[in-house]
Amino acid sequence: MSATVLDGKRVADALCGDLRARAATCVARGNPPTLAVVLVGDDPASRVYVRNKGRRAAEVGIVTRDHHLPAATTTAELVGLVQQLSDDPAVHGILVQLPLPAGIDSQAILLAIDPAKDVDGFHPDNLGRLMIGRPRFVPCTPAGCMRLLAAADVAIRGRRALVIGRSTIVGKPMAQLLLAADATVICAHSRTMALADEIAAADIVVAAVGRAEFVRGAWIKPGAAVIDVGINRRADGSLCGDVEFAAAAERAAVITPVPGGVGPMTIACLLANVVTAAEQA
Ligand code: GUN
Repeated sequence: MSATVLDGKRVADALCGDLRARAATCVARGNPPTLAVVLVGDDPASRVYVRNKGRRAAEVGIVTRDHHLPAATTTAELVGLVQQLSDDPAVHGILVQLPLPAGIDSQAILLAIDPAKDVDGFHPDNLGRLMIGRPRFVPCTPAGCMRLLAAADVAIRGRRALVIGRSTIVGKPMAQLLLAADATVICAHSRTMALADEIAAADIVVAAVGRAEFVRGAWIKPGAAVIDVGINRRADGSLCGDVEFAAAAERAAVITPVPGGVGPMTIACLLANVVTAAEQA
């Protein structure tokens, strides 16, 4: 293997160290950073994500308030809770874990979150601000990917960046952040033709496809930076990313592992947004 493996846990730990000090300042001012976490239904993966976020928040000194609602919750009921949290001055950040059960109108829920408490950065107001280059809260996974690129001193300006995936949570904001950092950005997706050729031309690859080892190592341009957002399970139950790691690491200059790459950064960036929200409250 020739690539440097980017240790997301180490970068996240460093960020959380800073956050702990900032959170302590808020506590000393009688304003403990507080995150409301809303989980609807019993999706096992969502339960794990929410638990991990809560643990990490506690380590940093952020108070979490858990709201676990049944899968049969209506859109109106959930809007009501989110409005109540938006109006509560003791709550600085609101996280509604996605995906929501099929019967709930997710957009209506995201719109009910006070944009100043939207620590996920999914409210149209915050996504629009990102688009016009005046960001407030930036979605946490793409923000974490940018921090990882910075930690590895990856040059972005003028380079060709390929984002694979166009979700509102990752792909679209990731493309915006890379564009704002002066990359030449291509956003690929399931209808993209000759994807292997696009990957072979990219200096920076961000894979957010959600398919196990979909990006073949042989497609990676020698010397590229590879950021793997995927968390998938192989048939044998083991975890892997969207990139064929070992083969890609033979060609890349830097690459993130799964687990231990982007995942810890997503949580750290969420907590950073909560502390920022508390400081601004
Ligand atoms: N589901 C998958 N990723 C995320 C995230 O970053 N935030 C929330 N709220 N839900 C998610």
